[in-house]
Amino acid sequence: MDTLTINLGDRSYPIIIGEGALCKLPEVLTSLQAKGTVGLVTDTNVGPLHGDKVVTQIREKGLNVKVCVLPAGEPYKRLAVIEGLCEDFLLAGLDRSSVILALGGGVVGDVAGFAAAVYMRGIRFIQIPTTIVAQVDSSVGGKTGVNLSEAKNIIGAFHQPSGVVIDLCLLTTLPDRELRAGLAEVIKHGVIADASLFEYMEDHVDALLKKDLAALTYPIRRSCEIKGAIVEADEREQGLRANLNYGHTFGHGIEAASGYERFLHGEAVALGMCAAAALANSLGLVDVAFVERQRRCLQRYGLPTHWPDMSVDAVWESMQHDKKAKAGKLKFVLPEGFGRVVHRSDVSESEVRRALETLLTV
Ligand SMILES: NC(=O)c1ccc[n+]([C@@H]2O[C@H](COP(=O)([O-])OP(=O)(O)OC[C@H]3O[C@@H](n4cnc5c(N)ncnc54)[C@H](O)[C@@H]3O)[C@@H](O)[C@H]2O)c1
Ligand SMILES: [Zn+2]
Repeated sequence: MDTLTINLGDRSYPIIIGEGALCKLPEVLTSLQAKGTVGLVTDTNVGPLHGDKVVTQIREKGLNVKVCVLPAGEPYKRLAVIEGLCEDFLLAGLDRSSVILALGGGVVGDVAGFAAAVYMRGIRFIQIPTTIVAQVDSSVGGKTGVNLSEAKNIIGAFHQPSGVVIDLCLLTTLPDRELRAGLAEVIKHGVIADASLFEYMEDHVDALLKKDLAALTYPIRRSCEIKGAIVEADEREQGLRANLNYGHTFGHGIEAASGYERFLHGEAVALGMCAAAALANSLGLVDVAFVERQRRCLQRYGLPTHWPDMSVDAVWESMQHDKKAKAGKLKFVLPEGFGRVVHRSDVSESEVRRALETLLTV
């Protein structure tokens, strides 16, 4: 079992990582002096698979638990769900000193975290992430929120968790496609911050796709370290934190242009990383060997690296919409090599379109 600390002054918190890390939950609850009833938020997929294990750990502490089960899926990441959760919390008698647990993927973490941020003007919560995306990305850093139908993650709050418990055993039930999509974000961490993490991902494809938990531990822990260091330096995304958006400017456009149905987020990010690398190549930041090596790695994880029937116009339009929603210029995070990125907001439409066109042909 490993413990990392995210150092944010009085908002610092531990991340406990390992196979069976859930057994540390009572200790975390003790350190938070949790009393009375704990609110456990999960979804209809994860609750039946893993809810009991968490309830057992809570009861071991002599605490009561109010379980709130949300329908699974991105469409339920919306404001009405927050109202329902807060009503449940109130009826269960949760108060300012209570603790919420978020057991699930990024959707549950974002929703439960936002409910914790606004219930009684903010109560404490613990993340227990169950997808790779949640373990390496969404559970760390304190971004919480919900979507509007017009824009994703547009209502939210920065609300850091009081602890993160990453139990690798929870991944054993994760569908393979979700696993691969999550590993795209790990490969992203390698490209933006750590060439040796990228090499590890190249060298352990079979073990990671087989969900060998021992092999998964290093990239998950290293991803938390990388994200944690970026969050410590730039908690509210004034600059450096944008590095984590590598592949996402294109990726968000691809997700929106495909109606959020064809690709999982990580799959769209894989395509976005390919387009971003092509753009970096056309700007002279990396050579063709870089573009090809990154593409090959993503492809070995079964991630899409081409989209032959993509409409470049539709993706371009979606990127304009995204830009408007963020009130600014199109900002790109581009690689200069493995482990190093730069920010560019001076890229022309024709350069962006040319980068997208590289996704059309295999
Ligand atoms: N807050 C942040 O910083 C941040 C960062 C990245 C992503 N996100 C958000 O995270 C969300 C995506 O997260 P996600 O990819 O985890 O999706 P998700 O939460 O929708 O989970 C994916 C699917 O897997 C199921 N599932 C989860 N864990 C499982 C398990 N162990 N076994 C079986 N099934 C399981 C879920 O029920 C769901 O159907 C998006 O809403 C995105 O905006 C937030
Ligand atoms: Zn992402």
